[in-house]
Amino acid sequence: MKFFIDTANLDQIKEANDLGILDGVTTNPSLMAKEGIKGQEAVFNHYKTICEMVNGDISAEVIATEFNAIVEEGKKLAAIHKNIVVKVPMIKDGVKAIKWFTDNGIRTNCTLVFSAGQAILAAKAGAAYISPFIGRIDDSGWDGMLLIEQLSHIFQVQGYTSEILAASIRSPNHIIRCAEAGADVVTSPLESILGLLKHPLTDIGLAKFLEDAKKSA
Ligand code: E4P
Repeated sequence: MKFFIDTANLDQIKEANDLGILDGVTTNPSLMAKEGIKGQEAVFNHYKTICEMVNGDISAEVIATEFNAIVEEGKKLAAIHKNIVVKVPMIKDGVKAIKWFTDNGIRTNCTLVFSAGQAILAAKAGAAYISPFIGRIDDSGWDGMLLIEQLSHIFQVQGYTSEILAASIRSPNHIIRCAEAGADVVTSPLESILGLLKHPLTDIGLAKFLEDAKKSA
């Protein structure tokens, strides 16, 4: 399973990248706004900086929602760097645009996916990545992980080549369960990635080893 970080914060991207386990980055307009990045030029420059920091796929989201406008914006985003993956929302014009990008050699990440039906459409259109938002499904009282399990099964049975990119991660346990359920990629906040490191018995065991090491020093 590949690890992406879900942020536009450069310090957090650097910290995850320095760990040596980072395969890519996802962002969205909300994450850009959180970092105070305003205006198309600043947003495009920010994507360029991220591409120069991380050797992996970087998802850059279109704001347009109409087919021609999505295509125009996506072409500009894809021209920023070879590792840019154009992130397109799961709407009717989005599906049409994903097919256009596929036919024209531009890789896409279909975002805001909440059902198997939506994921099947995105796979048929040729999306490189499909992003089910498991945390937001959990927030609405359903079980997001069931969607990852369902998609893993469907994609295997149908031989779809799109990668299942589990998004909207809220905890280290989400990451573990995504690995178990067969997600191809998980995109997560830094906090959840670092949460995987933690175990009290590791801390207790290390303290004891260091204490005993002093006795034989
Ligand atoms: C994925 O690409 C999205 O940017 C992200 O995972 C959404 O997560 P949220 O539900 O925490 O906003």
